[in-house]
Amino acid sequence: MALVDLDDAIISRVREAADIVDFISQVTPLKVAGKSYKGLCPFHREKSPSFSVDRAKGLFYCFGCGTGGDVFKFLALTERFTFPEAVEHVAARVGIELPRRQKTRRDNDKDDLLEAIDDASEAFNQELRRYEGNNPAARYLHERGVPPEVVQKYGFGYAPDAWDYILRRLTQKHGEKKLELAGLVTPRQGKSGFYDRFRNRLMIPIHSETGALVGFGGRSLDGSEPKYLNSPESEVFNKSRLLYNLHRSKDAMRRVDRAILVEGYFDAIAIDYAGVPGVVASMGTSLTAGQASLIRRFTRKVVICYDGDNAGRAATLRAAEVLLGGGLDVQVLDLHGEKDPDTLIQKHGLDRFTELLSNATDVFTFALQEWATDAAGLGGRLKSERVERFVPLLGAVPDPVMRNDAAQRVADAFHLEFSTVWSRIRGKASAVPQERQLTAPNATAEKFVLTAAMQGRLSAERLGRLREELFEDAGCKTIFSFIKSDLLSGQPIDFEQIRTHLRGEEELRLLSELALSDDIDDRSLDRIDENLRPMERSFVDRRKLQIQRDIVEAEKSGDLRRVDQLVAEKMELSRILSTLK
Ligand code: UTP
Ligand code: MN
Repeated sequence: MALVDLDDAIISRVREAADIVDFISQVTPLKVAGKSYKGLCPFHREKSPSFSVDRAKGLFYCFGCGTGGDVFKFLALTERFTFPEAVEHVAARVGIELPRRQKTRRDNDKDDLLEAIDDASEAFNQELRRYEGNNPAARYLHERGVPPEVVQKYGFGYAPDAWDYILRRLTQKHGEKKLELAGLVTPRQGKSGFYDRFRNRLMIPIHSETGALVGFGGRSLDGSEPKYLNSPESEVFNKSRLLYNLHRSKDAMRRVDRAILVEGYFDAIAIDYAGVPGVVASMGTSLTAGQASLIRRFTRKVVICYDGDNAGRAATLRAAEVLLGGGLDVQVLDLHGEKDPDTLIQKHGLDRFTELLSNATDVFTFALQEWATDAAGLGGRLKSERVERFVPLLGAVPDPVMRNDAAQRVADAFHLEFSTVWSRIRGKASAVPQERQLTAPNATAEKFVLTAAMQGRLSAERLGRLREELFEDAGCKTIFSFIKSDLLSGQPIDFEQIRTHLRGEEELRLLSELALSDDIDDRSLDRIDENLRPMERSFVDRRKLQIQRDIVEAEKSGDLRRVDQLVAEKMELSRILSTLK
């Protein structure tokens, strides 16, 4: 993401300048309905419109599925932007220039490393073009049947068989220390000086999500180990947060709402070059949670397409666990015995690949094929061990209903009672944080009262009874705390000011729900006390409980005066409570 500096004031300015109706009507047609606009909700299937947009308040809310928020939230959901991306996008549309962030020293150091890596890439490119294709890398590519357009598009290069190619070319400009930090040269052991890290290798450049060249994968050309030598971990190269080819495929991934995950550089290239959208490579077999969340920013669905051998299939199940835990839906593509996607496309063509892609199965079907085809013949302990293998995978499914379904399928496959399988995964459920928090018992009443207050429908007497402590629902309490002073002074509510202070997604959603609720009619308003009373009673109950605990404390410490005070307060509360009944 660009170096922009977002503070509350600028975010607020962008939001106020944006016409939310304009942004949303590009996705779903809206019609004027009273003070707001209505349309079919883009977030769930519906026949009659329950999706409202309020231009003046800058909020949307669906009364069908409960999705709501501001223009940034809308773009985050439909375009899968991160928050800063959404702000940048809207700012560009409404013509507000965002302030550039001041570069820190660290940024400058990073830029220096990136420049060295760029220069190295150029040096490797030149070397690949030398001797008119009569060099080991060019010969290798020719034998492998890699066309010149691929070499060009993916920026391949050649690190010649020398100890000092990069040193000679780049030391003068960058200095040895920087080349070392950039992962291009290595200090000599026991002696002074450095030598090139990559020698006699085909060089595949690796980019960050934003397209900065951050490192290389170097394929061995003479059978020496390792087969692929990658850039070492550095300030700019963090393999567990990088996915090969992401910068080329992220937009398409968002558009088609699906990622294809492969192991190898050449697998990603074969698929990407063939024009299938959304492919990335994990660069090896152990996928990290960081890589999973990188994918999750662009789509919810992943098709794993690892190598077809035993190692690849085992890695598929491990990667699936990580992806499920990251909140992704996981499918698996069956290569039908082919070594890897690259080989499959070479041998059988793109159509065969897309056919297999459309036949991808959900991950539990795959896992059952791997671990349970012989389930019927297994006896006691073997069976138990086999079922145990499913536990991490089942535990990684964040949605309880889906986890339940999958556990049922495992139980069926092994002819076991559901509870036998379920008891093993209980308590091992994924630690993925659930967005929605528990709502208070009186949440509906609290929302009704708050809505009435926001619509200016509460009498001065009732308004006077409202206090922050009456709200148990965290969201209602927060919103009330922000509008309290506007309400009491009879000012119109400043939505922009509230939004700027709301921190959680859930609070913003709630604000939209309340702000876009239909006007409360007079008949419903008659029932305001039916809603306000239980809130007051529940508050007094909570307060009494607290006093009871304080009394025990005070008795323990022998503070009799305090005990007397508390008892008096408790009696007063009991009296109030009886008037509220
Ligand atoms: P593979 O060994 O399956 O490589 O490793 P590949 O892509 O099929 O290689 P080719 O087709 O023979 O050239 C899969 C991926 O694992 C990483 C690389 O990203 C590779 O593409 N890997 C593999 C390494 O980083 N180091 C290694 O030594 C081997
Ligand atoms: Mn492979």
